Amino acid sequence: MNGPKTLRWISQDIPFRQGESVAAALEAAGITSFGRDAVDRETRYFCGIGACQCCLVSINGVATEACLTPAWDGMVIVGLEADLD
Ligand code: FES
Repeated sequence: MNGPKTLRWISQDIPFRQGESVAAALEAAGITSFGRDAVDRETRYFCGIGACQCCLVSINGVATEACLTPAWDGMVIVGLEADLD
């Protein structure tokens, strides 16, 4: 399929470029806060290399580093707090 590719962030479709990470796609869309973690710290794009764990999001119910995860068409992402409720 050659149409625009998007991932789903909460209730918003976010476009991305081939090979772009989830964190880069979210940040390019103006989303700089990815939610709250289990100890109520804000999650966000920070180191970009998988070292800080600041960018954790929930992808298919699994806590995942957004900066290390390539975006794919139709993926569904929510903040970690959605899984903590
Ligand atoms: S931004 Fe540091 S692990 Fe993803």
